[in-house]
Parts: sequence; C-alpha cells; structure tokens
Amino acid sequence: MDRRKLLVAGALGTAAAAPGLIGAPAWAGDDDRMRPSNHRPLVIGHRGASGYRPEHTLASYELAARTGADFIEPDLVSTADGVLVARHENEISGTTDVAAHPEFAARRTTKTIDGISVTGWFTEDFTLAELKTLRAVERLPAVRQRNTVYNGLFEVPTFEEVLELRERLSRELRREIGVYPETKHPTYFAGIGLALEGPLVAALRRHGLDRRDAPVFVQSFEAANLRRLRTELRIKAPLVFLAGAGAPFGDPRPYADYLSPAGLAELAGFVQGIGPEKTMVIARRADGTLGEPTPLIADAHRAGLKVHPYTFRAENQFLPADLRTGTAPAEYGRLLDELAAYLAAGVDGYFTDNPDLGVLARNLAA
Ligand code: G3P
Ligand code: CA
Repeated sequence: MDRRKLLVAGALGTAAAAPGLIGAPAWAGDDDRMRPSNHRPLVIGHRGASGYRPEHTLASYELAARTGADFIEPDLVSTADGVLVARHENEISGTTDVAAHPEFAARRTTKTIDGISVTGWFTEDFTLAELKTLRAVERLPAVRQRNTVYNGLFEVPTFEEVLELRERLSRELRREIGVYPETKHPTYFAGIGLALEGPLVAALRRHGLDRRDAPVFVQSFEAANLRRLRTELRIKAPLVFLAGAGAPFGDPRPYADYLSPAGLAELAGFVQGIGPEKTMVIARRADGTLGEPTPLIADAHRAGLKVHPYTFRAENQFLPADLRTGTAPAEYGRLLDELAAYLAAGVDGYFTDNPDLGVLARNLAA
C-alpha cells in the first residue's frame, strides 16, 4: 500500500482502515512463541490513549481501542477492601483530585514504597466506595494541557470495569481487544496483606481469560511474582517480564543479568515475553540521538520470547534528539520515525501513549 493511501486510512480511523484487524488474533500464546516474526507487531495502548485523555480512565482505554490499539494497558493497585483499581502508582495525588477533598485531608501521610519515601494519599487507605468519589486529572498538565479539559470527569476504574469495557468494545468493534494488566508494587502490596495476584487471576478466570491463547499479557517489573503466578497460582495466560534500570525491588539480581542470553533462557521457563525500556532495544548515542539496535531482540527471539518495549510518546521531550521537531518540549516530534526504527529492528509490539500513531506507523511499515 502506498504511503498516501495509508495516511488517508490512518486519518479516517484505524479500525476500519486496517483489514488485518478483523480475523486472526494478533497476539500469540505459547504455541506461537517460537515464531514471533509471523505476527503483526502489537499496538499496546499505554495507560489507554494517555496522550489524549487522563491516563487509566475508561475514556482513555476506550479511545485507545477505538483508534486501533490491539491491547489496553491497566496498571493495577489495591484498595483497602482488596479491590484492584487502575492507577500507575498507589499514591494518587498526581492523577486524582484527592487533595481537593477536605474529608480525606487527614489521610495524607508518608510511607516507604519500594524503598522510597512517598508523601500523599494511597489507594490502600481508601475503600472502593471512597475512591469512587474522586475524579481523575491529567498527570502531565504542563505537557498535555489539552487533556486538562477532562479533569474532574472520570472515575478511577476497577479492573472489573476495564474487563467489562474490553468485552463491550470487542463486540462492538468486531475484533478482540486484548488486556495487558501490570501488577504495581507487588511485594509492597503482599506485605500489607493486599496481594494483587489472587484477585488478578480470579478476575481473569471470571472473564474466561486465563488461557494460553487468551488476548492477555500479565506484566510485572518483579520476576518473583511472575514466577509465583505461574507456579503457585497456576496462571495459564501469557506473562511478560518488564525491565529497566537497576534491579527489581527486593531482588539483588540486576535487570541486565535477566536480559543476558542465559537470563532470557531462564525467563522463558515461565514468561512469554519481555517489556524492556526502549533504549535497551535501540540505544541512544552520547548526544541523545537514536543509535543502533542492541542484540536484545535477537537474543530474546532465540529464547522464544516476544519483545514489547516501552514507552513511545509523540512529544519532543520523550523522543531522541534527532527526531524532535523544533525546540518546544511539549510539541510533537517524529514519533512515526522512531517507531519505524523499532519496527525495522524487529519488535513484536510497543507500548504507546498515542495508539493512533502506533497503528499508522505499523501500517506504513507493512
Ligand atoms: O508496562 C509497560 C510500561 O508501562 C512500564 O512502565 O511505568 O509506564 O508502567 P510504566
Ligand atoms: Ca505499565
């Protein structure tokens, strides 16, 4: 397909414009994991379509699906009464209007979360009913000022509501919308008696999603809870190990060690993919420009693992220096070119705040 047709298709709406979106599933479970290149790279709506709506709201997830995302990505934490809700962290002053609620002023406190002192309001100190009185706000108002028009409109969704939305949109759009839940601070939550894994597996099973071929990837930055999900909770759905700088919390083993050829072979014993920070896949040069691919994709594929790097965002400040347009940090740069480089390097999918552009990049590369 020529570039002009694709650009028109992208502008009209990706779900209708990309025939491949209806039919064979785009995800792959264990049976397919040795052949990652046989599958279309996945577009994962990071915190929904968080480039355009306050993150982790049903509105954000719905927009992601409607603009062509294959998967929607809820980060999960727990309420005081053990309900999984979608927030990137358990401290919620940056993404809700909790500070404007005088009835909760006394709940403000300081805690140590994964070794870091954090002050604010925490989901585990609120019942679900209390949390439902709050409203979401834009996390990055200085960068995404336009998203602030939605401040105060949307609730903090439960994982159950996200799964119900997924089902409704899958029916309406006539394609399976996948869900890519992440356990946030799993060691911390287990330590306060609110372990995330049990409710997560129970919810997936209630919705018929604990299968090897389910449109699901469960992700975590901790290897220990992924291993426990597989061995103790006997989850069947695909798992993904996330990696960034340093080491998993409470784990002396650095991420770099997990991502060595030997580490990847070991991971393949209980996960189906890795989610590395994007510069681990294509490094940046010393001047901040996009460099060359590292061996990570080839090493991971050799171990039979998918590679889904994070996080791709349209604003200049998140892009390599040579892909920025102008100098304003919040203006859009050349995300399409960044994604083209990752697609050429062989990624199996990517987390993006701009799923419409993620789909367009994939179409352009096809
Ligand atoms: O889950 C992939 C990516 O979302 C990890 O980063 O911090 O946005 O959850 P984070
Ligand atoms: Ca995440």
